[in-house]
Amino acid sequence: YLLTVISVPFDLGAGLRGASLGPDAILQAGLARRLQQIGHAVEAADFVRLPLPPTRGRKPTPPAAPATAQPLLPGQASTQPDTNANALVPPASRLKHLDEVAAINRELAHQVAASAAGGRFPLVLGGDHSLAIGTISGLAQVHRRLGVLWFDAHSDLNTAETSPSGNIHGMSLSALLGKGHERLTQLGGAAPKVRPEHVVLIGLRDLDPGEKALIAAEGIRCFTMHDIDMLGMAKVMEEAIRIVSRDTDGVHVSFDIDSVDPVEAPGTGTPVRGGLSYREAHLALELLAEARIVTSAEFVEVNPTLESDGRTAKLAVDLISSLLGETIL
Ligand code: ARG
Ligand code: MN
Ligand code: MN
Ligand code: MN
Repeated sequence: YLLTVISVPFDLGAGLRGASLGPDAILQAGLARRLQQIGHAVEAADFVRLPLPPTRGRKPTPPAAPATAQPLLPGQASTQPDTNANALVPPASRLKHLDEVAAINRELAHQVAASAAGGRFPLVLGGDHSLAIGTISGLAQVHRRLGVLWFDAHSDLNTAETSPSGNIHGMSLSALLGKGHERLTQLGGAAPKVRPEHVVLIGLRDLDPGEKALIAAEGIRCFTMHDIDMLGMAKVMEEAIRIVSRDTDGVHVSFDIDSVDPVEAPGTGTPVRGGLSYREAHLALELLAEARIVTSAEFVEVNPTLESDGRTAKLAVDLISSLLGETIL
């Protein structure tokens, strides 16, 4: 591959700060050397770091509503006093740091689209999982029918209405399917960036009620931890590879490090017990490397502030290496 390694030190989509240190931790854990050992020539110019947009601690009062009445978009806070059930969630917390999330993702989409259009393999280092919005919106400019493998303990299928937290990293996949606030769904064009039949989720074990409803409504294919226990990872990946490569023109791997068990990946903001073992995660990515279908990837939610020994960043380097062709023998 000709890789573009895009570091995005951004964490305002998460509830906890610290995932912004993920890219540097992954690079310091020796990513460049490992890529070279596998045989990928990665020049200094192939490492890009996105500058962060200005950050505000607290948002100023939102601008007054436009004079012409507009229909209230899903997820958009009403300027009228809220009298419906949504009022149970304070409007300010429904989409935390929306301005910053939208800005960084717009920039990321440009970078990823440029890399993919140049025939390169974009490898995005997060940062929190809200960055998938920018990565995949950028890819959608080049791949009209993108397959997506989403490794995660969570499904990130909330909208402002269903989110228990208001954290946008829990809303990125729904946004890419065209559901949610327009500033997240309309990035790089109004059309949905992926079709539900081209998406597979792997490693799920912590879903919110609204997410389960969306999975059922859209018929999204999911391999939960229960399915992985029952079928084994080899069988799961055989099925998953079939789904994402049927009628698609590219395959993206969106890898939330919290898909892996917290014993192996303690450095992440929303750990959930009962995750992928070290070998299950590796096997999944090794099988993808063997299948030769993957055209881009992102590794997100590494938060080095939540651990002392750097093992989660090291794990990310190991996993990226497996995806990019490192073999045992
Ligand atoms: N479902 C929870 C929420 O929406 C947790 C999401 C965690 N997402 C992540 N990318 N780590 O707030
Ligand atoms: Mn997650
Ligand atoms: Mn996630
Ligand atoms: Mn988090």
